[in-house]
Amino acid sequence: MKSGPSQHNPLSTAWQSPSNIAIVKYWGKKGFQIPANPSVSMTLSRSVSETRVTLAGKSTAPGISCEVWFEGTRNQKFEMKIKPFLETVSGEMNFIRDYHLLIETRNTFPHSTGIASSASGLSALSLCLIDLHQTLTQTAIPALLFRNLASQYSRLGSGSACRSVYGNWALWGQTSSVSGSSDEFAVPLDFEPGSRFKQLQDSILMVSSKEKSVSSRAGHSLMENHPFAPSRYQQAHRNIIRLLDALKTNNWKEFEEVTENEALTLHALMMNSNPWFLLLEPESIRIIHKIREFRNDTASKVCFTIDAGPNIHLLYPLEEKQKIRQFIESELTPFLEKQQWIDDCTGSGPVKLNNFA
Ligand code: PMV
Repeated sequence: MKSGPSQHNPLSTAWQSPSNIAIVKYWGKKGFQIPANPSVSMTLSRSVSETRVTLAGKSTAPGISCEVWFEGTRNQKFEMKIKPFLETVSGEMNFIRDYHLLIETRNTFPHSTGIASSASGLSALSLCLIDLHQTLTQTAIPALLFRNLASQYSRLGSGSACRSVYGNWALWGQTSSVSGSSDEFAVPLDFEPGSRFKQLQDSILMVSSKEKSVSSRAGHSLMENHPFAPSRYQQAHRNIIRLLDALKTNNWKEFEEVTENEALTLHALMMNSNPWFLLLEPESIRIIHKIREFRNDTASKVCFTIDAGPNIHLLYPLEEKQKIRQFIESELTPFLEKQQWIDDCTGSGPVKLNNFA
C-alpha cells in the first residue's frame, strides 16, 4: 500500500493557465458568483500564471492552513484573498483542510492592472487542486469533466476565471443561443470562428501598471442598484447573439461594433455607478481617438476593448501584425508606461507543467 504525502514525501502538481479577454463583458452578479448576464471571451496565449501547489505536511490546526508565495516572496495579501476561496472549495475537496498547502505562483504580466491576473491565477490554482484531489482519491477524472470541474471551482474564486480553462473562445452564463450553457461554468464555443478570428491578435497597451483603485468585486456590487442595470443585461444578451454570429460568419465589422460597444458600456457603467468611479486615464482616451483616426485613414481593421483598468487591448487579424506594430511604435508609445505593451493572441488553454523551477 502506498503511504500518503508527508513532509518527507510531499505531493505536488503545477499548472500553467492563461488570462482571457472578454468581448461581451461580465459586470454584475445575481447571488454568489452567478453572473447577471452571459459573457464571451478569447483565451490568451502569453499572459499566463504558473502555479504549483504542494501538500507540505498534515495541517495541525482547524481551518485552512496555507502559505502563498508570489514570484519568490511570501504574499500575505494574496493569502487573505485565497483562503476564503479554499474554504469554499474544501467542501468538495476535503484534503484542502487536511494539509498545509504551499502555493507558489507567478505571472508573465503585472497583476491588478486590468489584465485579468485573477482569471489566470484562480484557474491555475483550481486545476492544481483538482489534480491533487484526483491523485489522492486515486480516481481518473475524464478530461472533459476535469475541465468542467476546474471551470466551476475557478468561478467560485473569480467569475472570469471560469472561462480560462478552455482554449480559443469560451462562453459563461445561461443563454438560449448556446445549448449546454450555464451560470455555473463556462463552455468552449462549439464552432470554429471564421478565418479572420483564428489567431486573433491582442496587443495590450500598458497605460498604467498601478493596482486599480476599485476592485472588480466592488464594481460588480455597484451594479445591484444601478439605474441602467436592466437595460445593460438585455444589451449583453443581444450582443452575445451578435458576437456569435459575427464569429461564425467571419463578419469583422459586426465584431468591431460589438467589441467597442461592450468596452465603452463597461466603463460608462462605472462612471454612472453610485458612487461613481473612473478607471480610464487621459492616455487611454488619447489612444482610443488615435485608433479611430488610424482606422479611418488606413482602412485598418484594428479595434479596441478594455477590461477593468486603464489599459487598451488592440484587436486585429494576423495579417495586420506588421502594420499595427508600426502604428504602435510611431503613434502610441508616447502614451504608454515605459513605452511597454504585450503582444498576445488566441491561446490554446491551460497545460500541466512537468517542471516548475
Ligand atoms: O472575474 P472578476 O470578478 O474579476 O470580474 C471581471 C470582470 C471583467 O473583467 C471587467 C469582465 C469580464 O467578463 O472578464
